[in-house]
Amino acid sequence: MNNSESIKIPATDYPVHPIIASRWSPRAYDSKPIEKEKLQRIFEAARWTASSNNLQPWYFLVGLKGDEVYRKITATLVEFNQLWAVNAPVLVLAIAKTTNSGGDQNRSFSYDLGQAVTTLSLQAISEGIHSHQMGGFDASAAELAFEIPEEYKVLVVFTLGYLGDAGILHPNLQKLEMSPRSRRPVSETVFTGSFGHQADFL
Ligand SMILES: Cc1cc2nc3c(=O)[nH]c(=O)nc-3n(C[C@H](O)[C@H](O)[C@H](O)COP(=O)(O)O)c2cc1C
Repeated sequence: MNNSESIKIPATDYPVHPIIASRWSPRAYDSKPIEKEKLQRIFEAARWTASSNNLQPWYFLVGLKGDEVYRKITATLVEFNQLWAVNAPVLVLAIAKTTNSGGDQNRSFSYDLGQAVTTLSLQAISEGIHSHQMGGFDASAAELAFEIPEEYKVLVVFTLGYLGDAGILHPNLQKLEMSPRSRRPVSETVFTGSFGHQADFL
């Protein structure tokens, strides 16, 4: 296990499945490409996500390091994200169809796309592949660059890749890579009776 990996396993309030505990968002990636079979399984996992009316509003545009799609996705990232994301062997645009088959707005498009990305990120970590989502990119530029139709929106860019050595990062990013993950306690998140009233089972 790489140094950053052991630091990132959280001290959970209650025990959770190791796959959940071991997902985190690294910025240092190894240059090793991801095997085709792993990519197939990662995107297959997303396919089986629940969605409102089974509309499956998720779509993914995948760039492999060295190809034109990857280069164009990189160009849409804010400078901070470009600094580290260019180490990842795979960059993906996560796209949602915002309308249903009748052309009306699907109120769940972003919720459902988010769930699909979570599903694939858990399949990925079960395969030893890390992911890191980014909202820091120019969505309009991405939509233009890839001729994405009007009723679709790019909501997030994410990396996929094997964990690399934190030493490849800028010193400020190394600090983030080596610091523990934190979360609000479950007791401040799960309520009964009324909002803010801690659930009795906790
Ligand atoms: C919608 C979304 C947007 C994010 N945008 C960025 C980003 O632009 N740059 C970045 O470095 N991390 C970004 N992150 C990563 C979060 O900062 C990270 O998930 C959070 O700090 C929790 O850390 P963990 O994923 O390691 O548990 C984003 C995450 C999500 C879900």
